[in-house]
Amino acid sequence: MKNTVLKENIFWTGYVDWDVRDFHGYATSRGSTYNSYLVKDNKTALIDSVKAPYSDYLLKSIQSYVQLDKIDYIVCNHAEPDHSGSLPVLMQKCQNAELVCNEKCKNTLSLHYDTKRWKFKIVDESTDLILGENTLKFINTPMAHWPESMATYIPQQKILFSMDAFGQHYASSGRFDYEENLIDVLYEAKKYYANIVMLYGKPVEAVLNKAANLEIEIIAPSHGIIWKDNIADIISAYKKWIYCKPDKKIVIFYDTMWKSTGIMAESIYEGALTNGVEVRKYDLKYTNITDIATEVLDAAAIAVGTPTLNKSLMPKMAEVLTYLKGLAPANKYAIAFGSYGWAKKSGQHDALEYLKQMNCKLVLEEPIQSQFVPTEEVLKKCREAGKMLAEIALEQA
Ligand code: FEO
Repeated sequence: MKNTVLKENIFWTGYVDWDVRDFHGYATSRGSTYNSYLVKDNKTALIDSVKAPYSDYLLKSIQSYVQLDKIDYIVCNHAEPDHSGSLPVLMQKCQNAELVCNEKCKNTLSLHYDTKRWKFKIVDESTDLILGENTLKFINTPMAHWPESMATYIPQQKILFSMDAFGQHYASSGRFDYEENLIDVLYEAKKYYANIVMLYGKPVEAVLNKAANLEIEIIAPSHGIIWKDNIADIISAYKKWIYCKPDKKIVIFYDTMWKSTGIMAESIYEGALTNGVEVRKYDLKYTNITDIATEVLDAAAIAVGTPTLNKSLMPKMAEVLTYLKGLAPANKYAIAFGSYGWAKKSGQHDALEYLKQMNCKLVLEEPIQSQFVPTEEVLKKCREAGKMLAEIALEQA
């Protein structure tokens, strides 16, 4: 087994999940990791655990450094089961360990597991948990990602265990940023932000403000690679993402039944093609919601196309718009378009309603519609709308 040493006597003891492809609806095309860290000192602390099915692997990994009865503290930064799932096994096997968490986390854990026999040590931001040379300090980060979420910091080592923040669903043999392709890792961090964190821009801004007051040499998140050489890159990316800051970019996504809406999407695309503007077009038959959310994060404008089906949207469009509404991307201009047969006031208007609920700025108050196959007049409207979106995109800083 390869040893991953963050600093002297601080080790990664997590699990690399090469196979996971669906993480509560998130298409994890490159797998993930559940990161756990061991701090050996006069007292020994484990920071976070892994998903329940990988408990045995975690125990083996810990035992390569220390006997289980030598663990004094098990820190739970976040109660979501991808990080807490192994706690029942750990608390049973590590007989001398106290479960370190905040009050909210204790309550949340009790709603997941039988915690009656667990010894809890409740901490807050004023707590100094002295291990010996190292001290664990705690930073509440509510709603990044759940209300009880917190981060752990070791000032002596300048390591921030940031929990979900700065993470990526990215399985790899390298554990540190310098061991992997930075472009790939940053893209997966962007995807992670868009799909897990986007709704929580304000709480994450608060995390960044707190982190700005810390000296940091290592950011050790709970998923993916550990940031060491490229901390400035991920912090700078987060500063952009928390505001959904738009690029000069348009994203067209649509579903189509007999190609009419697809032809309209193509005309919007043609109209939008402009020097300096990035235009992306996705047929939802071939693109998953995870990738669409990632593309929308930094788009200036979106064009949403659906035919009418059964007096409503196409199912894949309903899925994507429901998902995006939940993630609440900010600062987006939008149009709706599509074809209908005989129910003029349904599919495309339903899409428009979603865009309103997402607080998008509507470029056109009404959708562009085509009764069955689009005429040249309809396609001209599509090209003109594409051009308008490009002009909006060009205005972005
Ligand atoms: Fe990776 Fe919110 O759990």
